[in-house]
Amino acid sequence: MQDAFTGKPTRIRGRLLPRAEERAGLQHDHERRLAALARVGAAAEKCGVRADSDRDLVVLAEDEVSLLESAGAEWAALGDAIRAWRAVVPLRNLEDFGFASGVENPLEEPNARLRRIGGGVEAWAFAAEGEGSVYKFYLPREDKQIGSAFGFRRGDESRLLAEARLGSYTALLEKLWLIDALGGMPTEVVAATPEGILVAKQTLGEPLAQGDDMSARLPKGLIEIPSRFVRANRDHPRLFFLAGRAWLIGDLHARNFVRGMDGELYVIDLVAAPWPESDAEHEALIEEWLARVRADPRASALGASRDDEL
Ligand SMILES: Nc1ncnc2c1ncn2[C@@H]1O[C@H](COP(=O)(O)OP(=O)(O)OP(=O)(O)O)[C@@H](O)[C@H]1O
Ligand SMILES: [Mg+2]
Repeated sequence: MQDAFTGKPTRIRGRLLPRAEERAGLQHDHERRLAALARVGAAAEKCGVRADSDRDLVVLAEDEVSLLESAGAEWAALGDAIRAWRAVVPLRNLEDFGFASGVENPLEEPNARLRRIGGGVEAWAFAAEGEGSVYKFYLPREDKQIGSAFGFRRGDESRLLAEARLGSYTALLEKLWLIDALGGMPTEVVAATPEGILVAKQTLGEPLAQGDDMSARLPKGLIEIPSRFVRANRDHPRLFFLAGRAWLIGDLHARNFVRGMDGELYVIDLVAAPWPESDAEHEALIEEWLARVRADPRASALGASRDDEL
């Protein structure tokens, strides 16, 4: 199946929920994208090219360093890394998605191919006319940042304070990977634009009523965190293990879920970050707890307790 806008292969179409093999393919693609971006970063550093944000790497054109590639193996490796990245996240213009050109804010102008359905803080969400898939345009923010991710500070005693902040492109790719890993709405990254907008595609669902209580309906695999370890400024902070790492996941409120055509609930958006490296001396209790729930997620021993009681 080809994506109607990029012409590239896609596993997402309208409201249809992909089968298990396609799900596994989506996961694999997220991992390849993250690895490809990390490879560009490492290759650029070897050439002495310092990017002050991964935004600078995300928008590199395929032929960006072609004139330098004969200058040495390191430049040739950078050229290869950029082309491998461009193969998994192509550069496309907003016009390729039906937006007007030469206007100040193309996303605000009427678009015959994409109908606005929501968003604003991180992404503008549109449904494709006809087949219905959702396209999200994540806009870069001040200082070449994008999306949001948790940052950490130390609170009183050994408590970590997790606060949602502007994130990096890597953090956004990780968020989208985590949505799929949690069995959320199938999600792909379909393009980046020269201005640094990242375009994601998602299966279309039905929004839930705002304010619905989600505490008992969160995705499986999320582990409750005793509040003496973490305070987060987003709903329902949870621990999740993926690819051998611990992650903090939050912002799991009703508007970040939709109902799929099978009637089930699926997460469409969240805020996350890798669990921070801890200061073992001050955080021995947290470390011990992490090791325990990594081995056995039920060891949390919090059972059915609710967030506000933890
Ligand atoms: N897959 C989807 N199916 C149906 N509606 C969707 C889908 N994805 C997004 N939407 C709609 O667009 C809104 C914004 O999407 P999303 O949460 O991904 O972006 P956001 O910028 O974080 O927005 P917000 O700040 O409102 O949470 C959702 O609340 C929902 O109404
Ligand atoms: Mg949201």
